[in-house]
Amino acid sequence: MPIKIRSRPRRKTNSNKIPQLISSSAKIGRNVKIWNYTYIGAGSEIGDNSKIGSLAHIDYDVKIGKNCKIEGLAYLPPKSRVGDGVFIGPSAVLTNDPYPLSDKMIGVTVEDGAVICAGAVIKAGVIVGRNSVVGMGAVVTKDVPREAVVTGCPAHVIYTRKEYERKRLAWNRS
Ligand SMILES: CC(C)(COP(=O)(O)OP(=O)(O)OC[C@H]1O[C@@H](n2cnc3c(N)ncnc32)[C@H](O)[C@@H]1OP(=O)(O)O)[C@@H](O)C(=O)NCCC(=O)NCCS
Repeated sequence: MPIKIRSRPRRKTNSNKIPQLISSSAKIGRNVKIWNYTYIGAGSEIGDNSKIGSLAHIDYDVKIGKNCKIEGLAYLPPKSRVGDGVFIGPSAVLTNDPYPLSDKMIGVTVEDGAVICAGAVIKAGVIVGRNSVVGMGAVVTKDVPREAVVTGCPAHVIYTRKEYERKRLAWNRS
C-alpha cells in the first residue's frame, strides 16, 4: 500500500553516484553497509554491522538487529521485526496484511540467528524461530519452530539446524 513518509527523506549517494532513499528518521547503526537503490522508511532501525543489498525495500516501522545480512530485492513491510545475526536471502518476502486490503497489519517476527533463503514468502504474523532455516521458495504459513529447517508449500519441517550445519560444513570442506 502507498506509504506516507512524514519526515523528509534524504537521498544519499555512494561512490558510484547511485542514490539510496533513506528516511531522515531512520536509525542506522554503526558500520552498516547499504547498497544501491535501497529504500528505508521512516522510523526504521538497522543495527550495527548489518548489510542491506541493492533494491531491498525496508518500509517504515521495521526493526532489524545487529550483524544481519539482508540480500538484494528483499521486501520487509511495516511492523517487521528481525533479530540479530539473521540472513534474509534475495527476493525473500515478509508480509504484513493477511487479507489485503485490511486496515490492520501484523508483522512477521524473525528471531535471532534465523536464515530465510531466496524467494521465501512468510505469512503475516508468523514467528520464524531462533536459528531456524526457511528453504528457498518456501511458503511459510505457520510459526517455524526454533532450530528447525522447513521447505515447501506449505512449509514443513525436513530436518534440524544441526543437520543443516553438518551439511554446510561438509560443503565448505569439499
Ligand atoms: C533448505 C536447503 C538448504 C535444503 O538443501 P539440501 O539439504 O541440500 O536439500 P537436498 O538437495 O538434499 O534435498 C532433499 C530433498 O528436499 C527437496 N528440497 C530441497 N530443497 C528444497 C526446497 N527449497 N523446497 C522444496 N524442496 C526442496 C529436494 O528436492 C529433495 O527431495 P527428494 O528427496 O524428493 O529428492 C536448500 O533448499 C536451500 O534453500 N538452500 C539455500 C539457497 C539460498 O537461498 N541461498 C541464498 C543466497 S544465493
